[in-house]
Amino acid sequence: MAANQERTFIAVKPDGVQRGLVGEILKRFEQKGFSLVAMKLKQAPKDLLKQHYIDHKDRPFYNGLVEYMSSGPVVPMVWEGLNVVKTGRVMLGETNPADSKPGTIRGDFGIQVRRNIIHGSDSVESAKKEIALWFTPEELCDYKSCANDWVYE
Ligand code: RTP
Ligand code: MG
Repeated sequence: MAANQERTFIAVKPDGVQRGLVGEILKRFEQKGFSLVAMKLKQAPKDLLKQHYIDHKDRPFYNGLVEYMSSGPVVPMVWEGLNVVKTGRVMLGETNPADSKPGTIRGDFGIQVRRNIIHGSDSVESAKKEIALWFTPEELCDYKSCANDWVYE
């Protein structure tokens, strides 16, 4: 796999959808130069959300997190590009919006940790698992963006 074909899983959480932030978030990833590989609007079943956050199953906030994530539709997406996992996390900001710098999505649009607008994979390995959990292989589009020759040297 070429380095600039790394993929990450990003999801606008229910509060981000309800607050009309989907377009703004898409805009940031598009303008950065990353390529959109897949996207949908989905009312996620609790079983899917439990699996998605399975690493947190023993944390006190796990049940509340699943409730929050199932409180409305989410917008799962796959983005592709050089270091997209790490850079995506930088674009999101810290887990708690209160600790997130202005210019990040959580820093610009959120206040509380339990309403932090967006999810992003924390490693290439997690991204692979999350993409497979939320999308079928047929839903992932393989194409080369015509902007790539201008985004990369
Ligand atoms: P995410 O997985 O959603 O991208 O968030 P993250 O990596 O920045 O943070 P993580 O530790 O994976 O936590 C997952 C989500 O759980 C909620 N949370 N609530 N103390 C709390 O009540 C608490 N701590 C975390 C947040 O929605 C966080 O994004
Ligand atoms: Mg996480």
